[in-house]
Amino acid sequence: MAGEQVDGTRPDAVTAEELAAAGLLLEIDGAVATIALNRPERRNAMTFATWRALAKIGRSLPAEVRVVVLRGEGKLFSAGIDLSMFSGGGEGFSDGADRAATDAFIAELQQGYTWLRDPRYVTIAQVHGHAIGGGFQLALACDIRVIADDARFCMKEPALGLVPDLTGTKPLVEIVGLNRALELCLTARTVEAAEAHRLGLAETVVPAAELDAAVADLTASLLAVNAGAAVATKRLLQEAPENTLEEQCAAERREQIGRLREMFGGAGKN
Ligand code: CAA
Repeated sequence: MAGEQVDGTRPDAVTAEELAAAGLLLEIDGAVATIALNRPERRNAMTFATWRALAKIGRSLPAEVRVVVLRGEGKLFSAGIDLSMFSGGGEGFSDGADRAATDAFIAELQQGYTWLRDPRYVTIAQVHGHAIGGGFQLALACDIRVIADDARFCMKEPALGLVPDLTGTKPLVEIVGLNRALELCLTARTVEAAEAHRLGLAETVVPAAELDAAVADLTASLLAVNAGAAVATKRLLQEAPENTLEEQCAAERREQIGRLREMFGGAGKN
């Protein structure tokens, strides 16, 4: 991949040491940031440091970034949480005894996922091979999933006695509906690429050898659209499920006024 290797020159940027400790690669090439999960020998299992670093990346991306691609190095996207986190391997692990502390701990980790909804970016999960547990939820946190025909998703948490808590339950239910989400989570079964596509868990499925090219094509198409319109439209679409028709019509008017002012120089009397 071409691009600038992030080296911490911005004061708030994630440092090369933090990225390495988190098992991440970050490349920024103009309007495109590519984040790679980079612990292939651990099947890109993610640690608490991974999620903290993801959150920091989200807080510090340069203003020119418009598209964020998340991908995995090696044979698969991600095996989810590094299981050593449950055996004392994770800094700050909270066992739930202190409710408030555990709530704050999980909230901090969730920030590694929530920023992917930010209207400033269109976020793409480029998934090949397994996306398990926290890895599945990472893909669900993205706006668009482009997957290889060998991709497979599994919400493993209930099988381990836990619940999915990395922001995945809301998009899962929104995409597949409550009943299917229940079935997927409570059987912890693996959904193969073709079914994932059918359920709406992937926008595009391509042969594995064509995955990079498919994501590159999508990225180019996204960047061809006016930047301000992209941000405003994502914000508008995100509001739609919660809004009444009346509220959504008002939201459309509000966003369009912003666009008209920007495009045609309306100074804004009010
Ligand atoms: N955590 C830590 N190490 C992991 C790991 C994980 N989640 N997944 C794989 N590894 C390690 C293996 O222990 C193995 O290490 P060694 O070489 O030292 O033996 C190495 O990665 C390669 O693993 P496999 O030989 O199993 O690789 P594979 O390609 O045959 O299989 C796999 C890949 C299907 C992902 C399989 O490794 C697997 O099922 N892993 C566990 C998945 C899992 O249960 N994840 C937790 C989900 S729950 C969650 O994410 C959220 C939560 O909060 C609970």
